[in-house]
Amino acid sequence: MRSQGIVEELEEIFSEITFEGDVRFMEPMIKHTSLRIGGPADLFVIPRNIPSLKNILVALKKRKIPFLALGGGTNILVRDGGIEGAVISLRSFKKIEILSEDKANVKMHVEAGTSLQRLVNFSREKGYAGIEGLAGIPGSVGGAICGNAGAFGYEMKDVLISVSIMDDKGKIKTLKKEDIDFGYRRSGISSTDLLLSAEIILKKDKKEHVSAKIEDFLKKKWESQPFSEPSAGCVFKNPPELSAGRLIDEAGCKGMRIGKIEVSSIHANFFTNKGKATASDFIRLMKDVAQKVKERFGVVLEPEIRIVGRNADVNR
Ligand code: EPU
Repeated sequence: MRSQGIVEELEEIFSEITFEGDVRFMEPMIKHTSLRIGGPADLFVIPRNIPSLKNILVALKKRKIPFLALGGGTNILVRDGGIEGAVISLRSFKKIEILSEDKANVKMHVEAGTSLQRLVNFSREKGYAGIEGLAGIPGSVGGAICGNAGAFGYEMKDVLISVSIMDDKGKIKTLKKEDIDFGYRRSGISSTDLLLSAEIILKKDKKEHVSAKIEDFLKKKWESQPFSEPSAGCVFKNPPELSAGRLIDEAGCKGMRIGKIEVSSIHANFFTNKGKATASDFIRLMKDVAQKVKERFGVVLEPEIRIVGRNADVNR
């Protein structure tokens, strides 16, 4: 069986390199995605330090084995056939460090695997302003930068100074914000570069101000978005000047369901997992919803979530 052959080849790598961290074969991605959907990754690694990360990247490149960098797994749909090659998680890299500060600003170094909400909470405790609108967005800082996460007019890129990345040859480079092609829910950071850390700048403010804003945004989110069931956040990007959620709602799609996937009746741009949902049902529902919006409004919806992996019946 092909997957068995892959596992043997991948196992060989670890007899050749020095690697500290977690190594899992045929790891169900259902365990690593907020949607709770996804077949197994041939290899899933959580390197504990930079040399181990470099060693695995170089070994994978030498063998032409593809890899995927996983952030918090919150904006991603993994197909039912799982992921070919390796998934690399930087969840062990989670330090927040203050680099310098003056009366007005504070510069911080944040590692990619830090949870975005830990960073928001840290800023709240210290009274640092600039990311209040990101309160309640799940996922990691690395993922939030790569996808330029945002809400309520705040975007991750607004507080960014630079990022440190490792390319697929294991070389570390610094990219300034100006050299990164950020857009709405996107950055030009290549999928073969691993984002290791970022330097960000926040403004000093009164703790009560920062806290009150965060509370207000969280309240709005709790009122308008489904939180009690697994989802991947907004499924489609907002078309220019329009709201995908409103279009889907007005096209009559709330409550539409395929298998265990349902268009949320709280916010129509969220699809929620009602049980053991499959990626193929999710993708079919995306197509049906997009079709209805196109028929009704003539607007073509583009996915916001990243769809990765192989179909269940291919390569197995
Ligand atoms: N609306 C409906 N029905 C719905 C959903 C929304 O009529 O089912 C209406 C709302 O009443 C409102 C308008 O559509 O008048 C806009 O809705 P909302 O304020 O919820 O904002 P959104 O444009 O749907 C965007 C981001 C969210 C972010 C919120 C808050 C996108 C695709 N969505 O949603 O981000 O949390 O603004 O700033 O950019 C995400 O990226 O995953 C995400 C959830």
